[in-house]
Amino acid sequence: MRQITFFTALLLHVTIRVVEGQINNTLNAILRRALDDAVNTVQPQTARPRIVGQAGQAAPQPSVPTGNSPQDLLNLFGGQTEDPQASSANSVSGQLFRVFRQNVARSGEVFGSRAVQDELPFLAADIRQKCILPLRPVCVDGYPYRYPDGSCNNPNPNILRGAAQTAQPRFVEAEYEQDSIFDDLPRTHGKNGEKLKSARVISNAVLSTTPSNRSPKSTRHTLTLVHFAQFVDHDVIKTPATKIRAPLPNDPYHEIQVRDCNKHCVIPKEHCFPIEVPDNNFVEDCMHFVRNKPAPGEDCMPKTREQLNERTSFLDLSSTYGSSERRLVDLRQFINGRLNASSDNLLPDGPPNDDCLPTQICFISGDDRFQEIPMLTVIHINFLREHNRIAEKLHKINPHWKDEKLFQEARKILTGIYQHIVYNEFIPLLVGKYTALGSNLLSTSTGHRNSYNRFIDPGTHNGFGVAAYRFGHSLVGRFTRALEPNFTEKTSNELRFDFFNNVKIRDSTIGPTRIGRWMADMVMRKRDKFISDQVRNHLFETKFTFPSDGFDLAAFNIQRGRDHGIPGYNKFREFCGLYAATMFNNGPMGFRDHDYDTVQKLESMYSHPDDVDLFVGGISEKPNLNGDILGPTFKCLIAQQFQRYKEGDRFFYENPFKDTGFTVKQLNDIKKQTFAGIFCRSLKLAVIQRKVFEKESYKNPRVKCDKVPEPNLYLWKERKGYFKH
Ligand SMILES: *[C@@H]1O[C@H](CO)[C@@H](O)[C@H](O)[C@H]1NC(C)=O
Ligand SMILES: *[C@@H]1O[C@H](CO)[C@@H](O)[C@H](O)[C@H]1NC(C)=O
Ligand SMILES: *[C@@H]1O[C@H](CO)[C@@H](O)[C@H](O)[C@H]1NC(C)=O
Repeated sequence: MRQITFFTALLLHVTIRVVEGQINNTLNAILRRALDDAVNTVQPQTARPRIVGQAGQAAPQPSVPTGNSPQDLLNLFGGQTEDPQASSANSVSGQLFRVFRQNVARSGEVFGSRAVQDELPFLAADIRQKCILPLRPVCVDGYPYRYPDGSCNNPNPNILRGAAQTAQPRFVEAEYEQDSIFDDLPRTHGKNGEKLKSARVISNAVLSTTPSNRSPKSTRHTLTLVHFAQFVDHDVIKTPATKIRAPLPNDPYHEIQVRDCNKHCVIPKEHCFPIEVPDNNFVEDCMHFVRNKPAPGEDCMPKTREQLNERTSFLDLSSTYGSSERRLVDLRQFINGRLNASSDNLLPDGPPNDDCLPTQICFISGDDRFQEIPMLTVIHINFLREHNRIAEKLHKINPHWKDEKLFQEARKILTGIYQHIVYNEFIPLLVGKYTALGSNLLSTSTGHRNSYNRFIDPGTHNGFGVAAYRFGHSLVGRFTRALEPNFTEKTSNELRFDFFNNVKIRDSTIGPTRIGRWMADMVMRKRDKFISDQVRNHLFETKFTFPSDGFDLAAFNIQRGRDHGIPGYNKFREFCGLYAATMFNNGPMGFRDHDYDTVQKLESMYSHPDDVDLFVGGISEKPNLNGDILGPTFKCLIAQQFQRYKEGDRFFYENPFKDTGFTVKQLNDIKKQTFAGIFCRSLKLAVIQRKVFEKESYKNPRVKCDKVPEPNLYLWKERKGYFKH
């Protein structure tokens, strides 16, 4: 068991900068007062009892009764936290330094000025004392497995690189707006100074479908790819929204959701950034939108606003195993290495009122967003069942292994298989073979390969999470269906009736198997600028009447980029070494990766090419190679990020490290595995095409499931002197 020490202030490992120059007593006093006032406003001194997760002692989850409104469903999607302590610590410090910067501005000083920046080191000790960060783990040397929170992957002093509950790094410097007090206001003005158009207006103009202009279906890729992509997203990122601290007598970390940001459309409030809705598709003319939470600065120094990531950045199956020890404890059965499952081998039941419709009994899994749509739940069930299958076999092969060893080995094997699926099957389809090759993203077919570089920050970057990886939103279709064993249709309905609804998963006449069979058979929508009305006009609606009481996911994406201070599309083009557009045409000086119709729409929405939001510019690019899913900009950002997930992960499955890696035989066996195998075994299908992300065809025919490779777990049989951990 690793020891964890915790600190009310961050310390050690923080190299205190050598302070040069003279202290300016006047300025020092001003800053000190600003800090003290911030402390009084935010009141960071919260008692922090340590909660140790052990079998049967899981700390009770705060169970907040869920209502049934679109805002409640939205909170289900992003509002919960599996680690209230860390969440509350981050809220406190993020907010503290935000208020501190405001107070400095109120005093008439400019926070970013040289004078203030030079003076801050003299206050470092005070600042750190006020700063509360989540528990800082102590790494046990030579521990062979990943920690659930992703810490200790990178060696000292950067043990928190890629860990859960840390700030998202950026590809391109933030562009916030400032007034005399705030320095972290969303980007709402264009280059020429006028106001950017409402995110909803842009969504309508550029990203909507019409009956005559629907997104075509892919001829090649299946829905399994779409929902696997979503599963991967939830493995590597969850950005928490701002919450308000509301400590309860028995729960000092209690925080409440910011609600009703659907008023004051003209003047945004502190935590609200509502979207103006001039069309009449929605009940409200102002769409609820809460800003994401400010993160405390690295080393506690109060820098500009950054956003947090509550998941580990590593491709480590956080979706299945959680991103904290505490969540993992809730998921394990503590018998023979198994993850807990329900009696009908679905996911186990979670706490009441958690993560699904309030009238239902919800499941629990590693990430809490998995009940958003049944297809995603199916992927979660696949990995749960495969884990238990592996653990069971390992138990038969190594009867002397105890629960902990069985669990960790099964987790390590499944994570290895998952990484192989990501880099061998998924990424080459997503970014194309050439880019995958050029960015060092392809796995070798056999043997070890050391790609680890400790200087690479594996953190999920802001432009990836908030824009590029949201490409998947355009792949979503209109329906949820299920297929019988003979591939005839069992059920079909529009997607909007299935948000957070687990009735089909629990219904044994439908269940994950029939939905999964459909996902493997059905092609996805093409990635293009068209976002289905199911999520663009009906996201999380609850009344199912016109006008809708739901949300617009595309408008959310645009607004989220502005909330995070994400610069325009052109900045990312330059970052990627691509030409920036200088005029609104699709010639060499313009939007060369767009079609003419799209450029005209962009021109009607933006007054300068530099103003185009990253999500809008990226999602509306054409692929530049036949058969590609992505356009060049998103392709570049996604390739860069997956390169970091690979090269920045000490536990990457191909790495040759003795204690943490696989033997060459084990690795070669892992490299034979495919997602089709997991699909077959977990869902007990009879037949499947070998490449399940691609449509069945004469080149990719359906085969009997027993022809699909299955891991040979005898390679994990422990023999003296052969395999020791
Ligand atoms: C010290 O700081 C104050 C407040 O910003 C400023 O007015 C003054 O010029 C500074 N003094 C020196 C010597 O820099
Ligand atoms: C496993 O899940 C069931 C609900 O599906 C629950 O009743 C049981 O307590 C869980 N077991 C453990 C060890 O958490
Ligand atoms: C397919 O299977 C379903 C359910 O078993 C059955 O009702 C249906 O008649 C079958 N259809 C064909 C064409 O075999």
